[in-house]
Amino acid sequence: MPSTIVVGGFFGDEGKGKIISYLAQKDDPTIVVRGGAGPNAGHTIEDGNKKYKVRMLPSGFLNKNAKLMIGPGVVVNPDVLHKEIEEFGVSERAFVDSNCGIIEKIHTDADSGGRLKEKIGSTGSGTGPANADRAMRTLKLAKEIDSLKPYLVDVAEKINAALDDDKGVLVEGTQGTFLSLWHGTYPFVTSKDVTASGICADIGLGPKKVDDVMVVFKSYVTRVGTGVLSGELPADEVAARGWSEVGTVTGRQRRAAEFDFELAKRAIMLNSATQIGLTKLDVLFKECAHKNSFEQLNDAAKSFITKIEDVLDVPVTLIGTGAGVNDIIDLR
Ligand code: IMP
Ligand code: MG
Repeated sequence: MPSTIVVGGFFGDEGKGKIISYLAQKDDPTIVVRGGAGPNAGHTIEDGNKKYKVRMLPSGFLNKNAKLMIGPGVVVNPDVLHKEIEEFGVSERAFVDSNCGIIEKIHTDADSGGRLKEKIGSTGSGTGPANADRAMRTLKLAKEIDSLKPYLVDVAEKINAALDDDKGVLVEGTQGTFLSLWHGTYPFVTSKDVTASGICADIGLGPKKVDDVMVVFKSYVTRVGTGVLSGELPADEVAARGWSEVGTVTGRQRRAAEFDFELAKRAIMLNSATQIGLTKLDVLFKECAHKNSFEQLNDAAKSFITKIEDVLDVPVTLIGTGAGVNDIIDLR
């Protein structure tokens, strides 16, 4: 704080949702704001025995005082948004930029079959086709949609005013560095740049106003859909290691590989990371489950973290040790 941006360092699903919901409660920002592509994103948040899946709203909603904003670079599906606003009871503090693009049925139809679905492995959310229409300057914007009227704001103005006032703004990226349209494994990527710079542009935050960039890595690499995954393990090996996961949005099985230091190094460079969030350490080392201090970790886990810091030359400041928001080691 005052401005921290959180982005994914691999192929999405690094556990950003959990990191963001922890930061939203611990650091108590005035605004949690989402950049990124659209409802192709899926974040899972566990609070006690409650489990939430978020696709449109920022993952910081567990902080009851924070304003929740969606920046103009994000395409919005009003049906998904209304459902989440109702489910989480946040109608008083949810805000959408007037210039957010709108996903309509033509976009979800175009995304749920054909080349995008079959070759690229798209999530079917309509995000890519909507962004294509945005580039063609034919996409409808949020200000044209009656049901969104109560939520419309100028997000760039709100976040910059908050920062000028020394208030905290937590910026939430979606997807991951190597799903970036510019820096990822094209054509097996999403329809936007999703590195820290792209996320800042999505919400109208200038590069000199970013205080911290946290890149989140999972303790192993996963990928849903198609595209290269270097060191990919066979499905039975993934299962034997306890690394099997299914996608939040698509329910598809995620492919997996060991932590990739070369990829991580490049993610650090592309995002100018100042901190690393490392998630699911407990999946790699069962003994680490629910631990809240570095000293409590076993030696193998400690050396894994030390190696990450040595190779990447950025401090690991948050370590996830379980699914719960408070299963975390905070070394900041
Ligand atoms: P699209 O963004 O739905 O077009 O999907 C393009 C590619 O990005 C596919 O391989 C998707 O599985 C992947 N993708 C998009 N959003 C996410 C995400 O939030 N997490 C993980 N993979 C994603
Ligand atoms: Mg996800």
